[in-house]
Amino acid sequence: MSDEIVVIEGDGIGREVVPAAVEVLESLDLDFEFVAAEAGDATRDATGEALPTETYERVADADATLFGAAGETAADVILPLREAVDSFVNVRPAKAFPGVDALRPETDVVFLRENTEGVYSGHEDRLSEDLSTLTRVVTSSASRELAEYACDFVEAGRGPAGDPEAGFTVAHKANVMRETDGRFRNEVLSVAAERGVDADEELMDAFATKLPLDPSQYGVIVCPNLAGDVLSDLAAGLVGGLGLLPSANVGHDNGLFEPVHGTAPDIAGEGVANPTAAILSAAMLVEYLGHVEAGRRVRDAVEGVLSDGPRTGDLGGSATTDEVTAAVVDRL
Ligand code: NAI
Ligand code: MG
Repeated sequence: MSDEIVVIEGDGIGREVVPAAVEVLESLDLDFEFVAAEAGDATRDATGEALPTETYERVADADATLFGAAGETAADVILPLREAVDSFVNVRPAKAFPGVDALRPETDVVFLRENTEGVYSGHEDRLSEDLSTLTRVVTSSASRELAEYACDFVEAGRGPAGDPEAGFTVAHKANVMRETDGRFRNEVLSVAAERGVDADEELMDAFATKLPLDPSQYGVIVCPNLAGDVLSDLAAGLVGGLGLLPSANVGHDNGLFEPVHGTAPDIAGEGVANPTAAILSAAMLVEYLGHVEAGRRVRDAVEGVLSDGPRTGDLGGSATTDEVTAAVVDRL
């Protein structure tokens, strides 16, 4: 049976890099059925809704979704869509590629970020003129589910080292948030111990210093929601450019795959956006659907093009989106 993939281009360069990624997926000759859906600023302008119910339901019913970016409606689109796929982990690799000018060329890490709770669970209150509060939610079930995913990820050799023995690092602040991060830390480490997976821990502030000083000592990093958001952006800064960073919102039998970048209004419509982040997001989608070898081939093709060119303007080249995409398809 074919896999149904919902494709949402969204706004700005989403309309350029998502078609590029679909072209790469089509060249793989896998049994995919693509279904286009609308969301974002233009959809809101046309219909009054940034995320039509029809799109939400399509995404919820699909096997996976490839999403580009939305403009000012990004939060109204992406947060419900992550919920539509019931995503419990946000996977964010940050790898410095040969041929790309990076602050820390030895960086090769993957963040596995808790995607449903922590301080992003939406429990904020204004109690008085002077006082606002936020309730931080941490459950054993979500912490353990993330840890199980991390163990599967490491055991399958999907970490940067490709080495099932490499284990993972859990970054937390359990010395201060003893109850919430204490629970998170204890559950994650206890799942790792039960599974026989190596796990060490870092206080997240110390980690934020050690990562940029020596990224080579890290591989897979498991984090609570906010910490994962911030620390993975820090890692993004080490590898040189938003146009390179893919991400996956993984659920139980569904997933949403998207570049980390936004709509890039400064270059949208010119045909010069770097399609790498979208294509690598598509590679994560392909792997998620079980085609691990095909995903690896896409990644290799992208790495080859980054190293030998052609390159888009953000990487110092002068190639168009189409030229880079064609070069990737050629290698495949
Ligand atoms: P942005 O990621 O769109 O752009 C930041 C800078 O990076 C720009 O100079 C842009 O030209 C460059 N850039 C980004 N992706 C690139 C690519 N593939 N190739 C070459 N250069 C690239 O972030 P910004 O400017 O903060 O936000 C623009 C809009 O995007 C806003 O309306 C924001 O709300 C939205 N946004 C949406 C996201 C989403 O839908 N997930 C995520 C981030 C921002
Ligand atoms: Mg962020």
